[in-house]
This record gives sequence, structure tokens and C-alpha cells, in this order.
Amino acid sequence: MRKLLHRLKRADELFNEWRLGIDSGEIHTPYDAARPEVRGYCPTFFRDWRLIRPHIVVTPQSSFIDYGAGLGRVTILAATLPFARVIGVEFDPALALRGQTNIERAKSSAKIICADAAAFDIPPNTSTLYICNSFTGSILSSVLTKVQASYEGNPRPIQLICNLPAESAFEPEIRRVDWLKLTHELALSDGRKCLIFAPAY
Ligand SMILES: C[S@@+](CC[C@H](N)C(=O)[O-])C[C@H]1O[C@@H](n2cnc3c(N)ncnc32)[C@H](O)[C@@H]1O
Repeated sequence: MRKLLHRLKRADELFNEWRLGIDSGEIHTPYDAARPEVRGYCPTFFRDWRLIRPHIVVTPQSSFIDYGAGLGRVTILAATLPFARVIGVEFDPALALRGQTNIERAKSSAKIICADAAAFDIPPNTSTLYICNSFTGSILSSVLTKVQASYEGNPRPIQLICNLPAESAFEPEIRRVDWLKLTHELALSDGRKCLIFAPAY
């Protein structure tokens, strides 16, 4: 049964890559002791995106940010929703370039910006921030400081969507943030989970 499920998941991954004309299925080493706050590239599985997507509130004037866009899979998928703008932020120049190539192949309107998430200034109309366990510690903290400042400067509905493995350093850190409240917790594949937060005030 496990083998069959694995094969079905693999077929789903290959079919959707082919459908979009992209190449984003790689998995890189998740942890590098030299950069303990950074996680390596691994895409959001297409099946998991289908589980998350119904919970995303889309408004046509607003922007979606994919923090740690890698090869651009979620950036491309989010741009199929009626957001005004979809931006992927990726700090590895080689991944950002390959992600942008995938975007062009998929004829997507999205864009990948090569930048450190910690320093990226959030567009004022941003409503949706997606983080697939991309980083932790001081990087997460800087991103959240910017999100909070953006919210306070322009109070609006905001969703922070976190796709996480069963255990992560990210989860206890985000759960401790007192200005965010958990609105959804979804079970994804392979023990992964999606936590969705919104400002608590
Ligand atoms: C798990 S992958 C997520 C890929 C993509 N968002 C998806 O869901 O398909 C995490 C990505 O975050 C990137 N990353 C890690 N730290 C970053 C930082 N400080 N700024 C920007 N990107 C970062 C990594 O290079 C990697 O490509």
C-alpha cells in the first residue's frame, strides 16, 4: 500500500511538472551546519498545494509572496490564482535564475527576486505570505518584524501560510509569536502540516 501511494505521488509530481513545462522536482540537503538558519531547496508537493489552496483568501488587488521560492513551483502555482502580483524571493542566485526560467516556460506572470528574505521590503498590498520551512531564527524574526510593520502601517487581512515537516525548528518559533493567531491547521502528505496564521489584532 505504501509503495502504491509513493508511486501515485511520484506520478502526480511528474504529470504536473510536464503540464506546466517546468523542472522543479529536486530535493537538496535540508540542513547545512555552516548556515543553521537556512533550509535547502525542496518543493511543495503538488498534492499538498491542492490541499492548501482552498484555504487561501485571494483578493484581486493583493499580492502573494513566496519566501524562499527556489525553483519557483509555488510562485508559478500561486500566479494561477487571481492575485494582482505574485513574487518569489530567493537568495541563492543559481536557484533564482532557474526559477525565473521555469516561470518563463510556464508562461507565468510571476517574478522571482533574488534577495535575502530578511531584507525584502513587503509590497504594501501584500495579503498572503507563504513559507515552506525556508528558514528559521533571526531570518524568520526579521521577516515577521517586517510583516508586522507592514500590517500596522496598513491594517488589512493577512495570511501567513506555513508548510512544515512533522518536526521543525520553525514551528515552535512561529507558535510563540504573540501578535499572530493560528486560524487553520491542515494535515499534508508524509506527516507534513500546514499552519495558517493571521494577525491577532
Ligand atoms: C523548502 S524550499 C521552498 C521552495 C518553494 N517555496 C516551494 O514551496 O516549492 C526553501 C527555499 O528557501 C530558500 N531560502 C532559505 N533561506 C532564505 C533566505 N534568507 N532568503 C531567501 N531565500 C531563502 C532556499 O534557498 C530554498 O530554495
